[in-house]
Amino acid sequence: MPTQIDQHGVSLSLPKRSGCIVQTGESRMTTVPKFVIGNWKMQARHEHGLQLARDVSRRLKDTPPPAHLHTIICPPFTQLDGVNQALKTADLPHERLALGAQDCYPASSGPFTGDISAPMIRDLGARYVILGHSERRQNHGETDAIIRQKVKAATAAGLVPIVCIGEHLAERNEGRAASVLSTQIEGSLTRGFRGILAYEPVWAIGSGITPSREELQRKLTLIRALLPMRLMTDDIRVPVLYGGSVTAVQAPSIMSIEAVDGVLVGSASLEAQSFLDIIDAAAEATLPQPSP
Ligand code: PGA
Repeated sequence: MPTQIDQHGVSLSLPKRSGCIVQTGESRMTTVPKFVIGNWKMQARHEHGLQLARDVSRRLKDTPPPAHLHTIICPPFTQLDGVNQALKTADLPHERLALGAQDCYPASSGPFTGDISAPMIRDLGARYVILGHSERRQNHGETDAIIRQKVKAATAAGLVPIVCIGEHLAERNEGRAASVLSTQIEGSLTRGFRGILAYEPVWAIGSGITPSREELQRKLTLIRALLPMRLMTDDIRVPVLYGGSVTAVQAPSIMSIEAVDGVLVGSASLEAQSFLDIIDAAAEATLPQPSP
C-alpha cells in the first residue's frame, strides 16, 4: 500500500479499495480522495493561462485545501510547461496539485504530424491526461476503441487517464442513457483500468444545465455497478467525477452526493476566483468524518 508523508506531516495511504486514511497528529479520519479538475479546453492565451495558474497557485500556497482534495489543472499543450512551473510555486505535493493534458496520441512516437504522445506530456511534468471528452468524440471522430488505445498509451507512460463518458440529450430522453454508458465503459476502459472516470452528460456541457441530484445519484450508482463488470474485479475503486456546467453555486450540492468523487470543470476554471471558489466549496462539502 503506497504511503506518503506530505510537508504538513499528514500521512496518506491509498489502499486499492476503500480510499485513503488521512491521519493527523490529533485524530484519525477516513475518506476517499476528492478531485477538482480544471479543463481549460482550447481557451486562455499564453499570458492569460500563466497568470491564471499563478493566481491559483498563490492562493493554494497561502491557504492549502485539505489533504484529501486533489486539484488538477489541464491547460492546452502549449501551456503545459509554463503552467507546470507556476504550479510548483504553490509548494504542494503533486497528489494535491497537479498538471494534466487534454488528450494524447495512442502511439508513443512516430511520423504523426501534429500529434502529441503520452511520454512527451509526461516529460513536461504532467501526471494526468483527459481522454475521450465528448468534444473529441464529436469533433475528431474518436471511438471507444481509439480511446482505449489512448488509455493504454497514457498508462504505459505513467500518466493517470481521466476518461470521459456521457450520453447525448436525445439518448437520455429516449431512455437509452444506461446502454450508452455501459457501451462506453466497456469500450473505452481497459480491463485493469487504473484511472479516473468522469460522467459528463453531453447536454450539460457548456449549457448551464446540470442534472438533478436524484438523476446524478441514479447515474453514478449505475456507473459504479457497471465498473466491476468491465474491470473484472470489485477490488479497484475508480474515482467517479461529474462534469458539465459546474460552478461554485452547484458544487456544494454535487460534491455532497456520496457517489461523487469530484468535479471536472470547464468554463468556471478559466477564472481564478471562480475555480478557487469551487475548490473551497468542494473542500467544505467533503470534510472527512472521524472514523467510528
Ligand atoms: P463546462 O465544461 O464546465 O464548461 O460545462 C465541462 C467539460 O466539458 O469538461
